[in-house]
Amino acid sequence: MITDIDINDLKRITELIHTRHGYDFRNYAMSSFKRRILRILELKNLTIESLIKRLSESPSFINEFLDELTVNVTEMFRDPGFWRALRDEIIPDILLNHKTFNIWHAGCSSGEEVLSMAILLREMGIHNQVSLFATDLDITILEKAKAISYPVKNMEINEKNYIRYEGKWSLRDYYKEENGKVIFDKGLLANVTFRRHDLVLGEVFNKFDLILCRNVMIYFNQALQNEVLKKFHASLFKYGYLAIGSKESLIWCDVANRFLVVNNEEKVYKKIKD
Ligand SMILES: C[S@@+](CC[C@H](N)C(=O)[O-])C[C@H]1O[C@@H](n2cnc3c(N)ncnc32)[C@H](O)[C@@H]1O
Repeated sequence: MITDIDINDLKRITELIHTRHGYDFRNYAMSSFKRRILRILELKNLTIESLIKRLSESPSFINEFLDELTVNVTEMFRDPGFWRALRDEIIPDILLNHKTFNIWHAGCSSGEEVLSMAILLREMGIHNQVSLFATDLDITILEKAKAISYPVKNMEINEKNYIRYEGKWSLRDYYKEENGKVIFDKGLLANVTFRRHDLVLGEVFNKFDLILCRNVMIYFNQALQNEVLKKFHASLFKYGYLAIGSKESLIWCDVANRFLVVNNEEKVYKKIKD
């Protein structure tokens, strides 16, 4: 079993993925990137050289590789206090000035976050007023997000989070069980557009009233986080909100003074300057 990878080999891999496949991992946090590569080598029984060969010669391998490389861990109503703040403070504030508005879930993974938002909006009775965009780099995970079907065993944590969020009903009201899987009501995705989008190389593609990018930038180095935060600033309407993960922050970045800290604990910021 390979237990370590030379920095030069990591550089060879990132350069190859960049030039051959157009994905840029050169500014990802190297420690977690290395752990993921080690995991791929073990999982697929590859050496560094055979991994490089497959990445060079097999065009279809890249999607499989990306799916293993990216960390897709997610939950519904992850950090319930954050979702309560959205429901009780942030969204009511947006509604003061906008009858309709739009939300971007950047790095939506397998869809639990956007599904939570759809349920929150339905319970607030405003689901027809909101357009949701859900994007991710990984096309395999986006297909899972569109299916909104999850193993029954995942539901324990989702149910617990929903109870701590103090949802109106029971999460069970939103899905049915079939062959060890739960399938959520497809109507929940009525106003959701899924799209592949790369936060590193992708352009600003729309303006939003609320952006959620939670537990994604944690895998980027600081220089890349800074660039991505500039894109979020450019993608927000003035007085729009940005929500990031509990272990992430923006108070150090170039655009920090163009945001107001709205909820420090739940990491919610408001754009106050163009
Ligand atoms: C840990 S999940 C976070 C999911 C969800 N936001 C949450 O907080 O539960 C991180 C997601 O970011 C995505 N990601 C990583 N790099 C990305 C990039 N450059 N552009 C867009 N998404 C990216 C991964 O594919 C993964 O689905």
